[in-house]
Amino acid sequence: MINGIRGMNDILPSESGAWRYLEAQLRAVADAYGYVEIRTPILERTELFLRGIGEATDIVEKEMYTFNDRNGDSLTMRPEGTAGTVRAAIEHGLLHNQEQRLWYMGPVFRYERPQKGRYRQFHQFGVEAFGLEGPDIDAEVILMTARLWQNLGLQDHVTLHLNSLGANEARQKYREQLVDYFRAHYQALDEDSRRRLETNPLRILDSKVPEMQEVIAGAPSILDALDTESARHFAELQSILNDAGIEFVVNPRLVRGLDYYNRTVFEWMTDSLGAQGTVCGGGRYDGLVHMLGGKSVPAVGFGLGMERVVLLLEALSLVDEHYLTPVDAYLIVAGAEPEAHKLVIAEKIRNLCPELRLRLHCGGGGFKRQMKRADKLGARVALIVGEDEWRSGCVSVKFMDGTRPQQTFAYETLPEILKSIPCG
Ligand code: HAM
Repeated sequence: MINGIRGMNDILPSESGAWRYLEAQLRAVADAYGYVEIRTPILERTELFLRGIGEATDIVEKEMYTFNDRNGDSLTMRPEGTAGTVRAAIEHGLLHNQEQRLWYMGPVFRYERPQKGRYRQFHQFGVEAFGLEGPDIDAEVILMTARLWQNLGLQDHVTLHLNSLGANEARQKYREQLVDYFRAHYQALDEDSRRRLETNPLRILDSKVPEMQEVIAGAPSILDALDTESARHFAELQSILNDAGIEFVVNPRLVRGLDYYNRTVFEWMTDSLGAQGTVCGGGRYDGLVHMLGGKSVPAVGFGLGMERVVLLLEALSLVDEHYLTPVDAYLIVAGAEPEAHKLVIAEKIRNLCPELRLRLHCGGGGFKRQMKRADKLGARVALIVGEDEWRSGCVSVKFMDGTRPQQTFAYETLPEILKSIPCG
């Protein structure tokens, strides 16, 4: 027996309904805001992530799946979607004097310690808006996520955390202040934070180590160090969100785990999932396009962890019923003639009811056994063709919940009879 790889999950038939539900909702929200899908490869040159995400981040330091292909080129399985999207947008000239509002969905890979809500292959839905620098577009991508929570029924289970990292020069100054502060409290730092003091001091603010919380609480706030333009941008963003009725917490310790951000950063968090409580994170990254070889183009976006949202939907029983039952109708045949023609009968019904999810019974067996199958699958109706129905060119319809008596209909009336049955 060869097992799957730790931290890389199979999505089984019992779970795929919840996934399809979430995917349909994500596509619908992206469509509602006029965003367009982009699909990029899973493999990219390693260099893209080294430059894009930053050499001193956890992802690049220890989480990438990197290997040499047969040519000796170093390739990496994408650990996130932004760098590849930027690469493709530059390469295909999508950013020449035009804005782009894009979305994507697919697997990403990080070599992290697996636990509930944290995997080595997981799936992100992401949105990236290019060419717009005002806070209106930051607000739009946040409103998009808020609408998603509303549509999924998760609005009371997530909280929006918001911060601004300011412009690069101001952040550099803040970084120096922070290093001075933590140097003065060196004894209070754990080993990881001492290392980060040299490489990525802002990330110390994100430490979850309980003994570190006091010293972190005393650190200078990045919001006191913002440049004037970024402070105005942040104030405007908050004003739009207030106007739109979106609640948020300003969290000056929110720094995010990737290096490309400036100004707005945000995360949606939940306390219904244990330690892995961030369901969605993003922000502005005005320097990335230029850093990866394009012109200077402002950009903002987010990535949403689909496993975490599926976990929430399942825990709260919020998956739409339609997606939990794979079939609407089960076709049962009895007798030699119907049995001999059952595929043609099924095709005829599918022609008449193209939306109906119809499973045909195969493998023989008596009427009772066939009904049992229909029941087990959760079909709303059993469609029955026995010798009588066959001779008279009709179908009997049995509503499995027993709310209506079994009745026989002409094929042509099936669409009308079955229109109350949910369609796929
Ligand atoms: P990120 O915060 O690294 O951002 O990842 C986005 C989301 O992916 C997280 O909020 C979390 O829900 C989920 N996630 C991260 N790691 C794991 C894991 N090991 N297992 C399961 N889910 C996980 C980004 O990736 C940025 N590219 C987001 C972005 C787009 N910023 C601007 N545009």
